[in-house]
Amino acid sequence: MIEVYPDLESLSRAAAAFIVAQARQAVAARGRFSLALSGGGTPRRTYELLASPPLAEQAPWDRFHIFWGDERCVPLDNPLSNARLARAAWLDRVPIPPAQIHPLDCSRDPAAASRAYEAELREFFGDQPPRLDLVLLGLGDNGHTASLFPGTPVLEETMRWASEVYLSGQNLYRVTLTAPFLNQARRVAFLVAGGGKAAVVREVLHGPSDPRRLPAQLIQPQTGGLRWFLDLAAAAALPQADPTLQA
Ligand code: 6PG
Repeated sequence: MIEVYPDLESLSRAAAAFIVAQARQAVAARGRFSLALSGGGTPRRTYELLASPPLAEQAPWDRFHIFWGDERCVPLDNPLSNARLARAAWLDRVPIPPAQIHPLDCSRDPAAASRAYEAELREFFGDQPPRLDLVLLGLGDNGHTASLFPGTPVLEETMRWASEVYLSGQNLYRVTLTAPFLNQARRVAFLVAGGGKAAVVREVLHGPSDPRRLPAQLIQPQTGGLRWFLDLAAAAALPQADPTLQA
């Protein structure tokens, strides 16, 4: 499902409301809500809205369990950290029990951190199916999502739930949840805004299948629960028949 909003603000309002609605559904059905956060800058406003009235008063915060879809391997207080961004914009401002927030610190040993994160996920799911209730994802202008970057070995991973990734261009390690694990999620929502993403949005959604070049194409949740939140600028290259402009 593709939803197009006039701008980032309206996209963020819709995404924040969607997250709270998904949380209430999950809590009613299973008593808890597991959410993997995206990094990057696009979700910041969505996070801020979740920490503000009215949503801040509507969400079942004590039932939230927060994970990250990926993290940069820097100290958690480094400006590059995805956890730092989410804490400042949202998590430090709502009463989610600290033990239910699972940051991924891979600043010392990325390989060990990815194994430890997978163990943390396995412990969280126990004998339940390893299905996150919702995964938020962004889209890079090169077609990456989470830290599934074009041409990296993690794209071929079929067994592990989390893996370290070395980005030579950035001289930076990251840890990412893998496509097979992300695709077990009940729902996945891409949040994509800005004209700089228009070309890659069209390629991912309408171009030929080429997941090694466009890793976001690997994201095909088994449940079919895939939703795109786009602003008009990011949807500009889609065939007109596609976007359903939302209020
Ligand atoms: C990261 C993100 C990454 C991000 C895209 C889009 O750690 O960088 O997880 O996948 O979502 O790069 O980033 P922007 O929202 O900043 O464009």
